[in-house]
Amino acid sequence: MAARPDTLHDLVEKAGHILVFTGAGVSAESGIATFRDALTGLWANNDPQQLATPEGFIADPARVWGWYQWRRQQLLSREPNAAHRAIAALAQRVPKVTVVTQNVDDLHERAGSDAVIHLHGSLLTTRCFDCEKPAQVPVDEVPLDGAAITPPSCGHCGGMLRPGVVWFGEALPEDAWQRAVAAAQSADLVLVVGTSGLVYPAAQIPQLAWEGGATVVHVNTEPVPVAAEREHSLVGPAGEVLAELLG
Ligand code: OAD
Repeated sequence: MAARPDTLHDLVEKAGHILVFTGAGVSAESGIATFRDALTGLWANNDPQQLATPEGFIADPARVWGWYQWRRQQLLSREPNAAHRAIAALAQRVPKVTVVTQNVDDLHERAGSDAVIHLHGSLLTTRCFDCEKPAQVPVDEVPLDGAAITPPSCGHCGGMLRPGVVWFGEALPEDAWQRAVAAAQSADLVLVVGTSGLVYPAAQIPQLAWEGGATVVHVNTEPVPVAAEREHSLVGPAGEVLAELLG
């Protein structure tokens, strides 16, 4: 549904609780590849069954560990963009803002957002594949190119360490999920930024909020089909659209 921008500005100004739900597109302008964009998406060029499942890790731990270490190293040289900054600044103007992200980067935090809820874990954490105890693993300073690297061993049980991200077939972190559901139930406005909305259960969060009466605004470089009421699609790069909407 098309909405006059001043109507959406009004909604932002009057909102008591804004939920910002983000996906890979919010970090695209920071130079981090999305998953499903044609040509550049990580899943357009790699098989998620091999790189993002427990079975893929068991089959080739060195390939999987090396790929995530490369992504982690790449993240260290990336900076938050205008979209992350506009979202962080929103917290100064609105009584309550909750940021729920599917992203495993830390760019929302580095832009200044507090208490970000990570539904799919974090590239910056590591835990044991067997005993699940957390471990600290530095990123190699030598440039990595996704080459295979044998995962380090767990200091407790000797098992293999794995990245602290959620893989296909795994449950979301329970605490993060519960907090995201609670935010969806109390938000009056939801900004859905840079996500294909294809991965469940995360994609339920905007739906839950809409069913609870919230207005949903999608911000995406592609038009998003919307329901007849209380749902809007703003088309363009997240940095530009959010600077205009929230500025
Ligand atoms: P996707 O790659 O599926 O979708 C990215 C979305 O961002 C698409 O709808 C693009 O049109 C949009 N987009 C791209 N650039 C943009 C920009 N500059 N501004 C605004 N929008 C832009 O990524 P996600 O929806 O995040 O899961 O993917 C969901 C999950 O699938 C990820 O969390 C990951 C992946 O497998 C796990 O790692 C568990």
